[in-house]
Amino acid sequence: MWMNLFNLSDTTEVAKKILQRGEMVVLTGAGVSTESGIPDFRSPDGIWNKYDFTEFATIDALLRNPVKVFGFFKEFLGPLKSAAPNKAHKALARLEEVGLVKAVITQNIDNLHQKAGSKNVIELHGNALNARCMGCHKPYTLDDIENERYGFPPVCPDCKKLIKPDVVLFGERLPDAAIKTACQLSMDSKLMLVIGTSGTVAPASGLPHLAKKAGADIVEINVEPTIITKTTTDFFLQGKAGEIMSELCEKILNEISVG
Ligand code: APR
Repeated sequence: MWMNLFNLSDTTEVAKKILQRGEMVVLTGAGVSTESGIPDFRSPDGIWNKYDFTEFATIDALLRNPVKVFGFFKEFLGPLKSAAPNKAHKALARLEEVGLVKAVITQNIDNLHQKAGSKNVIELHGNALNARCMGCHKPYTLDDIENERYGFPPVCPDCKKLIKPDVVLFGERLPDAAIKTACQLSMDSKLMLVIGTSGTVAPASGLPHLAKKAGADIVEINVEPTIITKTTTDFFLQGKAGEIMSELCEKILNEISVG
């Protein structure tokens, strides 16, 4: 019953499919980083179950009450600096090295794909380690915000406007180049691997559909079925991203070394 509903698959079948297709584009969400100790957003322990995002993560909230929102930034973004990549990030970096991952499109702002060694990472929602003046766009860092070098909330010494983490808040535009590249990669992909996203936030949530429409196979890894599992996913691998990705990577690399 479950099987029919969700196209449950296994790593052996998916490893074969990936080798057959020869290349994949990966879309990741917060679930790829939970095994690194970073909470996701919509699971029971998720951030939006503790904080109302309309009060902490919209551009209006930031402008209305910067002290409150910067307090949240310090609490949520601070720990990202010391987080370490897990087995899923590392497996993706290894598969890029052997030419099987063309790009990782991520909704995450934690820099963990890059820390693991992935080179072609498209960040749809920015990178929390960087910051920028909202007036003159001068670059700053998360450190500058954390250690209150420019006050709290931080203010650019040059133009006296707020220094904001380089992340996309609700109500802000995504970086044009990133979304354009992500759409193109999705339309060109032969296989899209979707890991740890609830698939509820546009425009990232549209990318698997775009890829599928263009003829790609969709493989999804998640601890539980999502809204794309039934409608779009061809191969569903249920479980933790770190465990499944390391098993999948090992099977692919074994196959390559035998072949
Ligand atoms: N392995 C696999 N999947 C996991 C794991 C894990 N170890 N842990 C959690 N998940 C799954 C959850 O089941 C859920 O489907 O990851 C998904 C996380 O979903 P969300 O919390 O909604 O995160 P995401 O999809 O990345 O959110 C998109 O919403 O508010 C924003 O800007 C934020 O980029 C974020 C966007």
